[in-house]
Amino acid sequence: MKLDKIWFGGDYNPDQWDEKTIDEDMRLFKKAHINMVTLPVFSWAKLEPEEGRYNFEWLDRLLDKLAANGIGVNLATPTTAQPAWLSTKYPEVLPVDIQGRRRTHGMRVFFCYNSPKYHERSAAIAGAMAQRYAHHPALKIWHIANEYGTYCYCPICRGKFIEWLQKRYGSLEKLNERWFTSFWGRTLYDWQEIQLPTELNDDYRFNPTIQLDYMRFVTDSTADCFTNEYQAIRKYCPDIPIQTNMSGYIKKLDQFVMAKRMDIIGWDNYPWPTDDKSLVALKHDIMRGLKGGQSYMLAEQSPNQQNWQPYNRLKRPGEVRMLSFQALAHGADTCLFFQMRQSVAGQEKFHGAVISHSGRDDTRVFKETARLGAELEKLSPVLPGMRSKADVGMLFDWNNWWALENSSGPNRDINYLSTVNLYYRAFFEKNIPVDILSEDASLDGYRVIVLPMLYMFKPGLGDRICSFVQNGGTLIATTMCALVDENDHCAFGEYPGPLKDVLGLRIEETDALLQNAENRVSLDGESFPCTLLCDVIHLEGAKCLGCFEQEFYAGSPAVTVNEYGKGRAYYIGTQPDRALLERVVTKLDLAAVKPGSRDLEITRRFDGENEVIFALNHAQEQGFIDLGSTQYTELLTGAPASGTVYIAPNDVGVFCRRKDI
Ligand code: GLA
Ligand code: ZN
Repeated sequence: MKLDKIWFGGDYNPDQWDEKTIDEDMRLFKKAHINMVTLPVFSWAKLEPEEGRYNFEWLDRLLDKLAANGIGVNLATPTTAQPAWLSTKYPEVLPVDIQGRRRTHGMRVFFCYNSPKYHERSAAIAGAMAQRYAHHPALKIWHIANEYGTYCYCPICRGKFIEWLQKRYGSLEKLNERWFTSFWGRTLYDWQEIQLPTELNDDYRFNPTIQLDYMRFVTDSTADCFTNEYQAIRKYCPDIPIQTNMSGYIKKLDQFVMAKRMDIIGWDNYPWPTDDKSLVALKHDIMRGLKGGQSYMLAEQSPNQQNWQPYNRLKRPGEVRMLSFQALAHGADTCLFFQMRQSVAGQEKFHGAVISHSGRDDTRVFKETARLGAELEKLSPVLPGMRSKADVGMLFDWNNWWALENSSGPNRDINYLSTVNLYYRAFFEKNIPVDILSEDASLDGYRVIVLPMLYMFKPGLGDRICSFVQNGGTLIATTMCALVDENDHCAFGEYPGPLKDVLGLRIEETDALLQNAENRVSLDGESFPCTLLCDVIHLEGAKCLGCFEQEFYAGSPAVTVNEYGKGRAYYIGTQPDRALLERVVTKLDLAAVKPGSRDLEITRRFDGENEVIFALNHAQEQGFIDLGSTQYTELLTGAPASGTVYIAPNDVGVFCRRKDI
């Protein structure tokens, strides 16, 4: 699917405002080039004051007004926040937490995703909205609920979990085998003996396989919850795309599973002030990867500070613009904010908004928003739907994330996302594009495949990786790779199981370094620090590139390379520092999108007709990009561009050319 233009705007909660304020908002929206609002995310209580009685008239008027003002609507089902009457009448819709406590009404995203009553009432209102608004001119896209991600441990969920397990394993015998219940005498003789992994039975060392299955089950149940509303909408509205916005805390749900149910991906980007810019870029690339490279929606970001961080730093002048262009540079086709007008009370009264409490249109934030809106209009005719291309594929897997971090040992400081970011950053800093791939994605067409701590190898992956290298590909595998199967069983004999041959080595044992401790690796005559884990490696055909310098395994290999078929496979048997990784990446001989100065982020998107190069100068000094002899047009200024182009500190350049020129 391809959007008609770059959507610019975001969450709007007009049920907090009177008619006069809403009219003023229309004026301000137009002034800021806003063309899309997301609503009514939190209005279930207003739309359905009692069971089955709907109050849509205010929303009718609002949608008409938005359409009359040329503003589209990302129409939200309000099902993230059920009304108090619903929780009171049917208490089973409320979730039970991991401590076994049935929660009371009050919070949002606070329902049991398996509750039949929740499913019934949410489908009812979604269907009623679809019936009423399917042909409304303002309707551009549907937005179901908001930031799914609550885990529930209620009796309904337990029953559903048992059904899910019956379907997955077929027999208790198989379940016992897959859950390895012979460990600690946990053998099950009746399906009803199955308990959910809560703190009532295990408060610090959950059986990792059971916990893994529960996380898979929660994902499937949440996806079904989404599909329940999806189908209710589809009954009346066959064509308009449907999505949900996922939270930036993406660990909770397997987003590859969720993505299959959505027409387009949407996610909420709320970086912390201390976040690496590569982490934000990585998350964008993950979102682009969820549907195999399809562009996606930046569904929320703050136009200024947040309110829920401990220290809510103002976004500096130009910072929101930079974050927005970074999103577009990585594959987003929208730039949506939370929120349009700042709430006067409630939990988020100090959260940034386009229109602040002052209501003025000459605030720094309003002016920056309006400027950005005008700029995006210049990109709108070419950008939507453009894709990108990478030589490097990085495998990323939620089951792996959960299993790796649920594992008791070897080192509690193992952090999957930051390890993926460590490897991603080594390419990012050189402007070498990376595609994030699911474990079952095709590896064809990639020159390099990276497996940062891909601990879990599902059936068939080992063979696919080996033939990738056999046929001329380059592999980078790391410590903790290929240790367990999809049930978290260390079933592969010698480590690293299915990668032993391709890597030409075996690992006898792995040392965990204490907090803040380091070893060192000597490579190319230099010494680099390393942390976290050190593998004790025996070479079986591979060549040692770098050795550990300390401990009883000093002098043994830390970084290796193995020629295999037409390709080669690197192994990094520790957590390398940035410089060591950079050294390894340099050996791969990969090209940057375009040459440029340090701290300039450069990406490329294209379609059948045009190519767009983004150059984002994150530095506090002037930078440059070298466009070579090709003639481009800088889209924001309209100026022709080629050769070396200078980019001011904190500024961006967007260069476009017809692809066939
Ligand atoms: C989330 C929610 C929004 C809002 C913002 C505030 O992303 O989806 O409703 O609460 O956080 O940052
Ligand atoms: Zn439940």
